[in-house]
Amino acid sequence: MVIRVQAGAIQEVATEMIVVNLFQGVTIPGGATGAVDKALGGAIRELIQAGDFRGKAEQAAVLYTRGAIPAKRVLLVGLGEQNKFGLDMARRVAGTVARKAVELRVTQYHSIVHGAGVGGLDPADAAQALVEGTILGSYTFTEHKTDLSEQEPRLEALTLVELDPLTVPAHERGATVGKAIAEAVCFVRDLVNQPANYLTPTLLAEAAEEMASEMGLSSQVLEEAQMAELGMGALLGVAQGSAEPAKFIILEHNAGRPELDTYVIVGKGITFDSGGISLKPSEGMEAMKDDMSGAAITLGVLRAAAALQLPLHLVGLAPATENLPDGHAYKPGDVLKSMSGQTIEVISTDAEGRLILADALSYARRYQPKGVVDLATLTGACVVALGHIASGLMGNNPELNRALIQASAETGEKIWELPLYEEYAEQIKSDVADIKNAGGRPAAAITAGLFLSGFASGYPWAHLDIAGTAWADTTKGYLPKGATGHGLRLLVQWLRKLGEK
Ligand code: BES
Ligand code: MN
Ligand code: ZN
Repeated sequence: MVIRVQAGAIQEVATEMIVVNLFQGVTIPGGATGAVDKALGGAIRELIQAGDFRGKAEQAAVLYTRGAIPAKRVLLVGLGEQNKFGLDMARRVAGTVARKAVELRVTQYHSIVHGAGVGGLDPADAAQALVEGTILGSYTFTEHKTDLSEQEPRLEALTLVELDPLTVPAHERGATVGKAIAEAVCFVRDLVNQPANYLTPTLLAEAAEEMASEMGLSSQVLEEAQMAELGMGALLGVAQGSAEPAKFIILEHNAGRPELDTYVIVGKGITFDSGGISLKPSEGMEAMKDDMSGAAITLGVLRAAAALQLPLHLVGLAPATENLPDGHAYKPGDVLKSMSGQTIEVISTDAEGRLILADALSYARRYQPKGVVDLATLTGACVVALGHIASGLMGNNPELNRALIQASAETGEKIWELPLYEEYAEQIKSDVADIKNAGGRPAAAITAGLFLSGFASGYPWAHLDIAGTAWADTTKGYLPKGATGHGLRLLVQWLRKLGEK
């Protein structure tokens, strides 16, 4: 999508559609909306007075201009209550507007920057939110649809219109950042939405390498023989039951810059989770193609870091394999030897995510990182605890947790901390090995986090359980149904802040 910023009065722009907004309860519009209303001879006030438009969040109305202004249509969108308005509402509104435009088969339009005026937002932040919301909200995944007549057109261009020419540079800065981040999220969504027969570990590794060369990242993919040499018995144990070879994807931004601080992102890359010998029920199993969301987000964060040229040394690690049952598959009761040297008793082959992450977290230590964050669609229990609204946060470093919570508040990607009290560790003690991979139903998101913490020793570490947030069943705001990419924006925000220090 092409993004432009232009100074001027929006009511004077000749275009398919202009977008203006209204807070809830406003009866006499001011600013750009007021100017458009005047130019249209009071058409917006008429709509309000008739009671047809109350400015509710994401409410949209289309007005036709009958030549009163050069634009063909006006889309009026509600911003909701002014005291509840913030960046996330700006993003949501932008997403809803983008889908409305596509529905109208409008592929280019001009919009005012929601919240930049009375909304009180910083102009760069407001522009970033508008661009992010627009790109994310209009995202679709249609690769496997063959009936093209059913398809809506793609949005081609968005122009931000700002009356004050002095604010144009700030808007341009924000728009550039927003575009880089939103495109990284779309890259993630494309990978996650892809069916597992189109996205094996090998194909995921190829996609990572292709993206890396495009973005100027260093990349390396470890094969099973190399994993064996490193002693990654936990990852290889999971991979045993699959005919597809496992891959260990490594991407680096600013490799070979020892003067920069190093951070590592680790993502669970189960390209399909059948549960293995501890087979899942078949109903809903198709959803388990999204079990590589953590890996995809890891690649996406690296992509955004490269696009934004973040002044950090950033490493992305994505262990990738299928989890399938066959004659070679690992079994409940098996004991695996992890790269850390710790032995693991397999209670459930369906608790495979923590096994592949264990070896990746051990591998991360070689970078002597200042911080490591892993993302994983790890437990159904996290979905029970937090639903589809927030990801679970766990970790061993309060300062890192706090920084992530701060970034979460700034990006609207909600996270909630769960406690790693050591009392819970009782549940994952094994009689035959050092630890077991499943601790029963109580606090299962936490026992999974505690399991990981045993492999994430020696550096500040945080874990995001995105099992409930990686996928959306309904379309809302800037989240069309399907893969969401939840977690990418907050991690990029965290890294941008670190880069500023
Ligand atoms: N990938 C699943 C977790 C999951 C469940 C993600 C539902 C999204 C929606 C994970 O590998 C898994 O199967 N976890 C088990 C662990 C249990 C056997 C200890 C779970 O949560 O049931
Ligand atoms: Mn599983
Ligand atoms: Zn899984």
